[in-house]
Formats: sequence, C-alpha cells, structure tokens
Amino acid sequence: MDKTAMRKVRVDLRLAGQYLAKTVYELNTTRALIRSGTRLSESFLHGLMRHGINEIWVADEMMNDLEIRETVRFETQEIAKTALQNVLANVRKSGATHSEHATALVDVAHRLVDDILRNDHVLHNIERIRSWDSYTFEHSIQVAIIAIIIGRELYLTQEQLQRLGIGAMLHDIGKVLIPQEILNKQGSLTDDEFDVMKTHTTLGWNFVHERFSVIMPTSSIVIIQHHERLDGSGYPQGLQDHQIHSLSKIVAVADVFDAMRADRIYRKRRMPKEVLTALTRDAGPKLDARMVKALLSRVALVSQGEIVRLSNGLLAYVTEPSMDAPLEPQVRVVADEDDTPVRRYEWNLRDSGCIVESTLDQWPAKVLKSAEQKPFDVIGT
Ligand SMILES: [Fe+2]
Repeated sequence: MDKTAMRKVRVDLRLAGQYLAKTVYELNTTRALIRSGTRLSESFLHGLMRHGINEIWVADEMMNDLEIRETVRFETQEIAKTALQNVLANVRKSGATHSEHATALVDVAHRLVDDILRNDHVLHNIERIRSWDSYTFEHSIQVAIIAIIIGRELYLTQEQLQRLGIGAMLHDIGKVLIPQEILNKQGSLTDDEFDVMKTHTTLGWNFVHERFSVIMPTSSIVIIQHHERLDGSGYPQGLQDHQIHSLSKIVAVADVFDAMRADRIYRKRRMPKEVLTALTRDAGPKLDARMVKALLSRVALVSQGEIVRLSNGLLAYVTEPSMDAPLEPQVRVVADEDDTPVRRYEWNLRDSGCIVESTLDQWPAKVLKSAEQKPFDVIGT
C-alpha cells in the first residue's frame, strides 16, 4: 500500500522525460491510457491532451527516497470517482433513474471501508486538493475517507461505516442542481445567492429519496444535515446538537477540514496553523469536540511529502507527520531561506521551537534548477 512521492501537475509538454506516477484512465471509464512508471514523451503528452486529461501525477524526483503511506488504494479511489461521476451525471438528466449507479456507489463505500479497516496507520495522509477542475469529485471522496477514519476511531460498526461513507460521498450531490454562476462565483455571495446555495442540502436529499431507493435514510440524512451546527447556527433547519444525527456530525467535521485545505475559486486554502486554530475554536460550540479530536489524532494535518516552509525560513518536506504536535512533524531540510539547496538532513521539529509556517504547492524554481545541475546527494559537499 505504499507509493513513491509524487505530485499532481497540469499536463504540459515540458513534462517530457519525467515518470508517470499514477496510471491515467480515459475519462469516465476504467480503461488505462498510460500505465504508471512510464517515461513521458511529447507524443504521450499530446495524446493525453487529445483525451481531455488536464492533470497527471508525476514522480517527485526531489523526494525519491520517500515512500508515502496510502490510506486508500489508488484503484479504489479511481473506482470511487467513476461511480460518483455516473451518479452526478444522472442528477442532471431530469427524469432519469439509474438505480444501478446508486448500487455501484454502495459497493464503493464497502471498498473504502475495507481499505481503511485493513490499514493500521497511526496517522493517515489525506491528499490536499489542488485543482478546482476536480474539486467536487475529489472533495466528496476525501470527505468519505476522512469521515470513515473518524467513525472508525469512534468504534462505529462496519455497517455504520459503510452508511457513513455513502452519505459522505453524496453529501454535496445537491450542488449539481445549483446554478453555475452562484456555485463558481468569485467573491462573496449576496444574501439571496447564499439562500440559493443553502438549498443544495434539501435539493440533494429530495433527489436521493425520490430516485435512489437503495440508499438508506441513515445515509441520506447526512445530505440534508451536514451544514447544521451544534449551537443551532447551521442550515437548512438550524437544528441543535441532540437533533443532529451522529453520522451528519462526523461528515460536518470531515467537510470543514477538507474544504479548508483546498484552493477554491473564491478563496485560497488555509495554512495548517489556521486549520488547527479554526477546528479548535469550533470544537464544542459548532462541531462535536470528540469527533474533532478523533480527526486530529488520526489524520495528518501536514501530510507526508508536503513541501513546507518552516518558521525559521528553511525549506523542507515532511517525512513523518507528528501525532500530538501536528505542526511539528519530522522533516527533511533541502534548502535555506533563499531557496539555495543545502546538504539534506532529517530534523524532528518536536520541541525544537520551530514549526511548519506554510505549505507550498510545488518546489521553488531555484531549488529545481539547482537539483538539475547537481544530484542531491552531493549538494552542499
Ligand atoms: Fe455542502
């Protein structure tokens, strides 16, 4: 279940010569176009563009010594994406009822739960979503994975975890029915627009009830309740703590966590320190404190392989997340504050007085350029 360090990049001819880290599948199918491990050539890259593939995973040469632990197998994630895509496409076709798509989603939830139960990692790495193009699919699947991890920590039964996973995958299904100009609006929504946005909860719930009889009410309740908050400040009904189903509370925590870590059209992602502050602040008044605690004790706030800028300015990547002090992981330092490569060294930030200040989407150009000129093992010598 291990994978080599990799990063997600936009398809570009300049990637020729790099190695594909994850198999690329034809859109909406499970047919492989290029297998992982293939060295990319310009003709492969042209082929991907022709197939409408915008993003791929390439091996990150800067971290070629790092084996990243994978929580859910890549194949499972791909199957999940295809199943969810089929369901979402179905929502747009009024009157169409394809219950086999809902049944496929139930099967996916079983697979996700199996992968997570089989996995005894102390801390799980959850990929940060970097691309707006794939936000809805990836977010829905990540929320399902995070929710199942929280549920497992709270000793839910396998069947409860499966229902939780289904509800989590479908939690934002109603967004498909919200006008694009509101959904993708840059800047803040007007009160009227926000009222429309809020209806994704009821629209989604109604849709699933009418069309997908195979989805149990304990799953679909998550769709209508995932924006409810314990203090009654949520929507659509302003329910209080005891009125909100526990599976909905778990998905609320997973949703808030994952949404904060992603770039959105209307705002940049939050840095790990801000995510931690926001979760700690809301644990109790708005989110279930036990569930937030379960999340923070099982999901890495700064994942393995994240490129980080430390509070003393050094540039590093995370080799081992820290369970009790999420901003003080073990890192490998690769460059100084000016991005000049240094001889690499491992540093456990625990009690060092230095923390992760920010995360970067990619290596600074200066670091990559130096890496091309000198192999890393001799840098600094
Ligand atoms: Fe939502």
